[in-house]
Amino acid sequence: MKLGLLTSGGDCPGLNAAIRAVVRTASERFGFECVGVRNGWKGLHDGDIIPMPPKSVAGILARGGTILGTSRFNPVHDADTVAHVLENIALHRIDGIIVIGGDGSLSAAYELSKHGCKIIGVPKTIDNDITGTDATFGFYTAVQTVTNAIDSLHATAESHHRIMIIETMGRNSGWIAVTAGIAGGADMILIPERPFSWDRLTRQLVTRHEVKRFSIVVVAEGAKPEDSDIVTTGELDNFGRPRYGGIGYVVAREIEQRTGISCRVTALGHVQRSGTPVAEDRLLAINFGVHAVEAAAAGKFGNFIALREGHFVPVPLSEMKGKTRYVDDRTYEIGEIFFG
Ligand code: F6P
Repeated sequence: MKLGLLTSGGDCPGLNAAIRAVVRTASERFGFECVGVRNGWKGLHDGDIIPMPPKSVAGILARGGTILGTSRFNPVHDADTVAHVLENIALHRIDGIIVIGGDGSLSAAYELSKHGCKIIGVPKTIDNDITGTDATFGFYTAVQTVTNAIDSLHATAESHHRIMIIETMGRNSGWIAVTAGIAGGADMILIPERPFSWDRLTRQLVTRHEVKRFSIVVVAEGAKPEDSDIVTTGELDNFGRPRYGGIGYVVAREIEQRTGISCRVTALGHVQRSGTPVAEDRLLAINFGVHAVEAAAAGKFGNFIALREGHFVPVPLSEMKGKTRYVDDRTYEIGEIFFG
């Protein structure tokens, strides 16, 4: 069997660990040949395809980013694009494709599989927002990065008696904010799943300041006040989704105006996506990669590999398409115990 491998969508820590797992499992366990598709679905459209022998993945386990490159190219944008993709799959005699991607890329995989492409998905994203799997790799490294930032910012918050606002990524779900917020001891966590009230937020912070004189507020980029919309940059990505960012500054301005307490913002941005993957993400990436090749060997195309109650299982791509995995009430309630 000849497997094509690609990484698509925003990069995340652990992509190279997954690539290495796919190539080594394919070659050493099954004797399959692997080719790498560069820059996500775009490489399949452009025919940018390279051989991937086991030696091509030597020394990449701990490296951030992806040696294959990535993009947010939509392979089902129009009929012409789909035709190019199908042509290149046939031209390179690719029997099956393993796509390592987030919700946009795996949803596109589902659409492509309706055109006869044999695809297995591997879920990656720092956002941890893919429906049907208990975890995605990349998330734990992002959480560690944010937790480290919260730990660091405590000292300056306390010294200046300020409110430090930390803006995290996560798009429409608040997993990074809530998980790192709990781990770092945040005094308030704002997430998209729970639109917040300015009155309640500022009241809680003022009450806290009477005693503690500093606060740490973690804000997910998709968080929004009850009475307004998500803050976006006004741009759309290639899957037609708005780019988020900036809510941290809105929150800081409003708190300062209403309370007179000095605020500072740290928008962590892409540092959450970059750098060396933590062990947990490497292990997830390796397991997802191994199971993806095993699923291909068993002919289980049209699925993505999901982690469910400790087991890696193939699940139909249709189950995740167009859905978002949101923060559950119980997780947020645990964070709330420590607010104020
Ligand atoms: O989906 C991963 C993610 O990092 C989101 O958390 C964020 O909103 C988005 O990608 C940023 O995308 P870009 O790298 O295109 O700015």
